[in-house]
Amino acid sequence: MPQITRHIGLSLGADICWPLAFEQILADSKLDLKLGKDSVQFACERVTLEPFPLAAGCKYDVVVDRLTHWLALRREWIKKCILMDGLYVYNNPWSVQSYEKHSSYCAMLALGMPVPKTMMVPQKNYEPKPDLDFTLKTYARLFDLGKIGEQVGLPAFMKPYDGGGWQGVTKLDTEAELRQAYENSEKWLMHVQQAVAGFDLFVRAVGIGPQVRLMKYDASQPLHGRYTTARDFCSAEEEQVMADTCLTINAFFGWDFNSCEALRKDGVFHPIDFANPCPDNQVNSIHHHWPWYVMSNLKWAVFCAATRRPMRKTLDFEPFYAIAKQELPYREKLKGYARIARERLQADAFTEFAAKHLRPLEEAATKWFQSERCMEAITKKVAHMYPAHEVKDFSARFFELVKQAVADGEHLKVAGAAPKAAVAGKEGKK
Ligand SMILES: Nc1ncnc2c1ncn2[C@@H]1O[C@H](COP(=O)(O)OP(=O)(O)O)[C@@H](O)[C@H]1O
Ligand SMILES: [Mg+2]
Repeated sequence: MPQITRHIGLSLGADICWPLAFEQILADSKLDLKLGKDSVQFACERVTLEPFPLAAGCKYDVVVDRLTHWLALRREWIKKCILMDGLYVYNNPWSVQSYEKHSSYCAMLALGMPVPKTMMVPQKNYEPKPDLDFTLKTYARLFDLGKIGEQVGLPAFMKPYDGGGWQGVTKLDTEAELRQAYENSEKWLMHVQQAVAGFDLFVRAVGIGPQVRLMKYDASQPLHGRYTTARDFCSAEEEQVMADTCLTINAFFGWDFNSCEALRKDGVFHPIDFANPCPDNQVNSIHHHWPWYVMSNLKWAVFCAATRRPMRKTLDFEPFYAIAKQELPYREKLKGYARIARERLQADAFTEFAAKHLRPLEEAATKWFQSERCMEAITKKVAHMYPAHEVKDFSARFFELVKQAVADGEHLKVAGAAPKAAVAGKEGKK
């Protein structure tokens, strides 16, 4: 039987905790898959930063990437490997570069998603440029911020159009606060967005390939308390809506790993922030959910490497827009979008593959998360983040949350089943 080794590369920054889990569980599992006539094994290594000739090949089948959104050298190496060497990477780097919060709002509004009412306002100040004065004198129109507040409706939020990490986000209860926030916004291009006031649930839905996890979020807590351990906080249909929403966004933009924040009010989930390709997956913030992230990441990486899943180099929005044009209630459209998403993300093939081949990975993970090696990985991350006198307590606390999640089988759960009934909008059908 021909022996084949598939290579998984980890493209990392200060990740520390999850790569140790990923590497050690993969090694422990001793995966050796019988695929057709081949016996397929997996090697994993960390990708280094160095000069590269454009015409050299790439040794990896799959790269799990954490750098594209901030490190040009790595992003451009990844683009080269996709274009020239058939690399599969999560996430699509062109899409990460060009679809920020603003354009993700626009696209999902076009599909009918209940994103709160949002306006973009011209910058307060600009970087000096040779043509700037002429352009502004000729074309910039005076506007009344008070009217914008009325149009959007207060309370509202002012936030950067391409924001992240809560930087530059201000809550506005009054017109005076809106004016002050604009004064402070300087050279940032801003949105004013209606607040989902009085929401009764804040959910984060994270997708890794076709797998989704829902987490109840509490933005008022310090970092380690925001991802709560709450379970069963919404109905089965609500879970399905959020899973469908998350997969629609991810497949639309070519993001394998992304998270969607949504606020529920009067039974409707309003997505407010969903251009987060490669979201936080460090144990010190997601703790209880960390085993799920690691497990799902491993399964998707192995599936993509084993099957040599082809990278979709270009995005194709048209099948989604074709459904948007139909005379259907939004929920039916969303089912149609999610059906395309699950097809693109090979949800059925993945589920079958995982059931047939990935049990050794699950067994190795279940043992690893209860082991001293897990505690060591957690401690390394915590020591990197916390003052020395807090390391022991916080590490032990996170380890307990991790062990409990694994004992409860939380790392193996997937939110939102693929609906079996035929719904509008199979890919290609207009
Ligand atoms: N429309 C909104 N309604 C209610 N809360 C909001 C709204 N927009 C933002 N927020 C609050 O502000 C936080 C940061 O905004 P968000 O859009 O998520 O920006 P970032 O991309 O910086 O995370 C959110 O987590 C939420 O708590
Ligand atoms: Mg956010």
